[in-house]
Amino acid sequence: MVSHATEAERQAAQGYEELFVPALFGAWVPHVLKAAGVSRGAVVLDVACGTGVLARNARDIVGRSGRVTGLDPAAGMLAVAQELQPGITWIQATAEDTGLPADSFDSVATQFGLMFFQDRAAALGEVFRVLHPGGHLGLAVWDTLDRNPVYARVAMLLDDMVGPEAGNAVRVPFALGDAQGVIAELAATGLSDISVETPTEQARFPSIRSLVEAELRGWLPLFHIHLDEPSIERVLTAAEDQLADVAEPSGEAVFPTSAHVFSARRPG
Ligand SMILES: C[S@@+](CC[C@H](N)C(=O)[O-])C[C@H]1O[C@@H](n2cnc3c(N)ncnc32)[C@H](O)[C@@H]1O
Repeated sequence: MVSHATEAERQAAQGYEELFVPALFGAWVPHVLKAAGVSRGAVVLDVACGTGVLARNARDIVGRSGRVTGLDPAAGMLAVAQELQPGITWIQATAEDTGLPADSFDSVATQFGLMFFQDRAAALGEVFRVLHPGGHLGLAVWDTLDRNPVYARVAMLLDDMVGPEAGNAVRVPFALGDAQGVIAELAATGLSDISVETPTEQARFPSIRSLVEAELRGWLPLFHIHLDEPSIERVLTAAEDQLADVAEPSGEAVFPTSAHVFSARRPG
């Protein structure tokens, strides 16, 4: 049962789907699906599914003999996910308290969600509980801001032009860049066969404006930071100047991003 999304929540999620998913998040899906061992016929859970890009790709792999469930607490995200793919089961819940039955998934995937969980130990405990013995977890978190320097610059721009709460909203996703710390949390949960890879993927936004617009229209509203149109225009104009070196001759903003992709298994 998904609660009704307000128009503002739906619009923020639509902004996330249009501005962020093709430019930034989509490229990571194959890494996480591989780490989670998703294969034909599998029963898969996408935790913190957002607008569902990973779940949709998982559905293509598992085929008709498999099943995919997407879980997220945000009604707006789930409203957009449901519109894009009604054939997936979308559940409104937190990672910490999924309400799902024990021992029920072959693979659990969670892409760029762990850093937002209030209680990571509880959330990883839930992953362990809902996996079949022998089932796999695939998990992605961003590397440090040092290793994602364009986002360090975007955060500083927003500090200056909007305020520290906006800059910090951009920094939050990079808080778990210490891979050894995450490995220790996975091990403490009882997961085994833990490994990590740290690939680089190119982010590719249509322009500098759309790179920063994604933050202003698709990210800050999720933190209840809403700018009026003149303020948005002011920030975008400054961004075009300050981040000009990130633009290709075509005008696209193309830059490397780094993330840790973990794989682990429930023993059994
Ligand atoms: C950066 S988005 C990632 C969405 C999606 N996995 C993707 O790759 O596009 C982070 C997601 O985490 C969700 N989230 C935040 N707190 C959560 C929690 N406690 N449990 C589950 N999901 C949560 C948010 O609602 C948001 O959809």
